[in-house]
Formats: sequence, C-alpha cells, structure tokens
Amino acid sequence: MPLTAVLTGLGAYLPPRRVSNEELADRFDTTDEWITSRTGIRSRRWADPGTSTGDLAVEAGHRALKSAGVDPEPGAVDLVVLATTTPDHLCPATAPDVAARIGLTGAAAFDISAVCSGFVYALETAANAIGAGRARTALVIGAETYSTILNPADRTTSVIFGDGAGAVVLTAGDADRPGALHGFELGSDGTQKDVICIPAGGSRQRAALAEPAPGDEYFAMEGRKVFLSAVQRMSESSTALLDRIGWPVESVGHLVGHQANVRILRAVAEQLGIPAERAVVNLDQVGNTSAASIPIALADAAAASSLTVGERVLLTAFGGGLTWGSAALTWPDVVPA
Ligand code: UT7
Repeated sequence: MPLTAVLTGLGAYLPPRRVSNEELADRFDTTDEWITSRTGIRSRRWADPGTSTGDLAVEAGHRALKSAGVDPEPGAVDLVVLATTTPDHLCPATAPDVAARIGLTGAAAFDISAVCSGFVYALETAANAIGAGRARTALVIGAETYSTILNPADRTTSVIFGDGAGAVVLTAGDADRPGALHGFELGSDGTQKDVICIPAGGSRQRAALAEPAPGDEYFAMEGRKVFLSAVQRMSESSTALLDRIGWPVESVGHLVGHQANVRILRAVAEQLGIPAERAVVNLDQVGNTSAASIPIALADAAAASSLTVGERVLLTAFGGGLTWGSAALTWPDVVPA
C-alpha cells in the first residue's frame, strides 16, 4: 500500500533588506498608489549583492528541519528538492550544495525549474518518492533571488518581485494525519513559453558567442497576458484536483495561491466560489517571490495561527513555461521555527 507524505515541518527566511514602494518610486517612473492598487504589494525584500538563492535556501531549510524536529545530519533526510528560477549557477544544480551546507550530504538532491509553479512541482515529486517508498523524509525548498535578474529598465517587473525562501519537511505517514498530502494536479503549455522568459544565457542564445541584445539577459513578462492565463489555469487546475479527490469546494478551509497579485488571488477565489477572506495573502509584505511564494505563505500563515489543524487547504500556482499546479493537504500541526 503506498505511503502518504505528511508535512511535518515548515520554515521561511527573508533577506533583511526591506524595499518599500516609496523607495522604488524614487528609482523608477512609478508610484506607491500604482503598485498598491494594481498588485496589492507594499514592500518586498531584496538580497544584498553577494547573497545567493542557495544562501536563502540553507536558512529556510534549517528552519523547516528544526520545526520538524529533524537533526540536520547525514542520513536524516533522503531527498532534497529545490525549486528555483534563479539557481546559484547554470551548472551544477543548487540543491546538492544546499543539502551539504545544511548537513545532509549523501541525500539525493536536485533542482526543479518550473518558475512560479516550481514549489508545487517539487512537492509532488517529493511526495511521489515517499509514496513509492523511495524516501522516508524529504526536504522541499522554494528559493529565489529575483533581484538578480530584474531589468532595471523595466518598471513593471521591478516593482513586483521579491527575494526569499520557504521550505517544508515531508515524512512518510498516514493519510488521516494532519498535514497529509491528498493529491496533485500539474500541467503546462509550452506554446506560450515566450510570455515569461529570460531570452539570453542558455543554449538558445549562448553567452560565450555573442553579446545578448540589450535587456535579453533579464527576466521579461507580458503581464496582461499572464494575468488572464493565471486566473484561468489556477482555477481549472484547482477544480480538476478537487473533483478527482472528491473534496467539495465548500469543504476547503483556505486557499493558498501563488502570491503573484492580489487581484489574481481574488479572481481565482471568486471563480472557485471560495470567500475572499479564506484566500491567504502575504504578498503585501513580500511581493511575488516566485517558487518561494507558497512555502513562505504557508510559514507566515502557521506563524499567525490563522489556520486550524486538520482543515482542508488547497495550494495553487502558475508561472513561466507556462506551467501550473495544485496540491491538496490538511493543515499540519506544526510551529514554524
Ligand atoms: O508570478 C508569475 C506569474 N506572474 C503573474 O501572474 C503576473 C501577472 N500580471 C500582473 O500581475 C499584472 O499584469 C501587472 C501587475 C504585471 C501589470 O498590471 P496591469 O493592470 O495588467 O497593467 P498593464 O501592464 O496593462 O499596464 C497598465 C498601465 C500601462 O500604461 P498605459 O499603456 O495604460 O498608459 C503601463 O505602462 O500601467 C503602466 N505601468 C506602470 N505605471 C506605473 C506598468 N508598470 C507600471 C509601474 N508604475 N510600475
């Protein structure tokens, strides 16, 4: 009989430097009023130069292990999966270094690249390893330093994204235990790959052969197109998952969506028929942290004790690729470290 992955630890780490809308209004042709009304974001954190995604991931990973009561030592964790769009290097993956720095040398460790949906992809990957009996304990991290890829000439993306990391520990357990993961649904549409992309730096535009066209080394997004797809795909993916696992939408206690834009979160909740006050929102303080956004939101919600142990929780995300994904779990009995 397949085992169930149970969320047994949660942690998040944000770099200390808080960047307010007012500070950005001094640097870009923008205003606090535009940013707040169009996105809901009031401030975000940006890592100082020299701080990498891996550095943030190590902190979040340590905190999640502490929250789970797992000592960071070789053998304690079988699998480390890191979701990120901003790895420390193109090669090798960031996860093995993060695992080693946490004290988990020897664990299987790899990165997952699904942009803002990365954490849900990573969560399903780790849960499947546990379900198949290939891992007993897994550390799943979402970590980003978007400040390193933002185009200083693009006011739209520069005001949206923030840096940070969140992590969860999954342990093999029973499906009736609070924190149990009850199902996933993932999807993609590569025909829309260009609406969120970094054109240069990969094998398509090789860095060594030519100078990239101005701006091609930075993250770019067609915001309006992405907005509409995000609402549609997150709503459809959530509905497909709830139908498959037999959870009526009224039974969902809270929706924890990818923190892209408060208008997107409200629209998804409305399409699903979930009251807006049951949609967890923390983007006002952290901005869009891409693959880190759901685990940071989970850790913030746990710290605020705003969810009830055992209640049904729906996660849903959308991002470049295009990719999307949803996950269903019951709220765990954990205190974030
Ligand atoms: O996380 C991965 C997935 N990403 C997302 O889900 C993001 C989805 N997209 C969005 O959240 C929104 O589309 C944005 C927040 C990116 C943009 O909001 P919008 O309401 O779609 O604005 P828009 O792009 O249609 O631009 C409206 C106006 C434009 O001016 P005109 O053409 O109407 O004169 C923009 O030039 O707002 C202007 N604008 C700005 N003005 C002040 C764009 N960025 C800014 C800015 N400050 N920072």
